[in-house]
Amino acid sequence: MNTRTFVVALSTAALAVGSLAACSAERGSTGSTPASGTQSGNSAPADAEDTMVGIAMPTKALERWNRDGAHLVEVLEEKGYKTSLQYADNKVDQQTSQIENMITEGADVLVVASIDGTALGPVLDKAKAQGIPVIAYDRLINKTESVDYYVTFDNYKVGQLQGEYIKSQLANLKAPIHLEPFAGSPDDNNAKFFFSGAWDILLPLVKDGTLQVRSGKSPKSNEEWQSIGILGWGSDDAQAEMENRLNSFYTDGEKVDVILSPNDSLALGIAQALEGAGYKPGPDYPLLTGQDADIANIKNLLAGKQSMDVLKNTDRLAEQTAKMVEQIVKGEEVEINDTKTYDNEVKVVPTFLLTPETVTKDTVQKVLVDSGFYKASDLGL
Ligand code: BGC
Repeated sequence: MNTRTFVVALSTAALAVGSLAACSAERGSTGSTPASGTQSGNSAPADAEDTMVGIAMPTKALERWNRDGAHLVEVLEEKGYKTSLQYADNKVDQQTSQIENMITEGADVLVVASIDGTALGPVLDKAKAQGIPVIAYDRLINKTESVDYYVTFDNYKVGQLQGEYIKSQLANLKAPIHLEPFAGSPDDNNAKFFFSGAWDILLPLVKDGTLQVRSGKSPKSNEEWQSIGILGWGSDDAQAEMENRLNSFYTDGEKVDVILSPNDSLALGIAQALEGAGYKPGPDYPLLTGQDADIANIKNLLAGKQSMDVLKNTDRLAEQTAKMVEQIVKGEEVEINDTKTYDNEVKVVPTFLLTPETVTKDTVQKVLVDSGFYKASDLGL
């Protein structure tokens, strides 16, 4: 394990907990001066039962965020913390006011999976002004000083796993091989990493003619990923887009062979569009990628309607986040393993990265069931 901890993290944590204690003292004693010692960051660590963790999640509409929220609450409460979990129906204003309420109601630490990574600066500045440490959960929060840590999966690697899977299967396909690429929500910082990881592998194959994109929706560089992004990651929008491409560019008897889908919600919609256009599971069904290992998609994988998935074990993500909360609250060194990659345009946010894993039909049992992520019965096995 190449996990490293950094002195810089220690000093940030000391500052964070110093201001956390100051903040709790101020709120607890309505306007009195901070407890002695808080200025130097040497105050006694806060007790878990006195610590409220505000958790802001984007939407209940996707299976993964429900699991993320529930598990985060479970592990934090096991450690004795109080929690306040809110979902924002993918609406930025709703998420902003939920965070505002958490601050007003005395949250001591905030864990935020943002909807729009650039929209939370002003509300998080309020948190910072009150000394409340902020952890960006899964998605980086951009263009603000007011985020202390980031905990996520290696998002570039997610895209690489998708690209590598596609590349590994091309020998089984007959030329010309038709690819249709999709990207995630343009307001989600992760989507850029997913696309870049895959496109660094696939673009050379588009350039040398191995892969042909009949729709022309083929970004010329990673930077152009937003041009094919599906705002809000909606299955219905992905389905409509795939139907549109099939109806406009595949009416002459040619078939689509490969579809790069960045995640499972898009893959579900794309699979619907394929079914509507008469594609049947079997050797001619297109390669279709995904991410999140949602139950509906794993069922599709087993039924031959999706070719691979990427498991990001969100239980581990929640556990690492709870550990981070505890290290911040206790004033301990905060464990991080990336101090370079996640520049939010104001600062490089100290990050803990976890590793994603490919799942195919043949590895469902090993990767998803034997690991305890799902019970066999969850997947109809
Ligand atoms: C997450 C993915 C998820 C997508 C849509 C991304 O930020 O990392 O796991 O599929 O959002 O919710």
